[in-house]
Amino acid sequence: MKIKNNTILVSFLLIVSVIFFSAAIPYRDGFKNLQVLPKNISEKKLDEIMHQFNDGLAVNCDYCHVKDSKSEDMAFELDDKPEKDIARGMIKLTDSINYNYFRQYDKDSMLVWRVTCYTCHHGDPYPDTHKPAKGINLLNGN
Ligand code: HEC
Ligand code: HEC
Repeated sequence: MKIKNNTILVSFLLIVSVIFFSAAIPYRDGFKNLQVLPKNISEKKLDEIMHQFNDGLAVNCDYCHVKDSKSEDMAFELDDKPEKDIARGMIKLTDSINYNYFRQYDKDSMLVWRVTCYTCHHGDPYPDTHKPAKGINLLNGN
């Protein structure tokens, strides 16, 4: 009888610790909805990139991300805000500028960007384009 009780106690502690530790490690199942960034990106690198977005546009995470309507926790994998999808295009745009026109491009690290979100945005989601007084067409020189 004593042995049985111990077994129950040990299993109980095991279950409790599994629940505790898995709750302490967010994203333990990997990221769920990466369409542009590398799917095997580390949590640290993704976090650095997201903070670059915040700094570049002077916004918070909720500018692009929403909360789960039931749990009220941030649900970063959801695509409910159009800003998130626009940002995907902006990641591709910024990455291709760096890849095509800058030599110090490291293909394994999107963080090694010479041109960043900040280069254009300077802390503003709607960067001022300073429209030229006269329309210009760079391609035909007029
Ligand atoms: C300017 C928009 C923007 C801001 C601001 C932003 N994110 Fe993101 N985030 C994105 C985009 C776009 C993706 C998806 C990238 C892709 O599809 O490869 C993403 C993906 C993520 C993911 C992966 C979710 C999954 O499982 O697929 C996490 C986690 C995340 N962001 C956290 C954050 C945090 C934390 C902040 C604030 C520090 C933040 N983001 C700020 C645009 C943004
Ligand atoms: C080459 C310049 C350039 C770069 C680099 C750039 N953007 Fe943009 N971005 C713009 C311009 C211009 C707009 C349009 C603003 C407007 O409609 O007035 C814009 C619009 C946006 C918008 C939409 C704002 C809205 O609510 O309509 C988001 C979000 C955004 N950019 C995120 C990013 C992120 C994140 C990065 C870096 C990965 C980035 N941008 C890099 C020029 C740039």
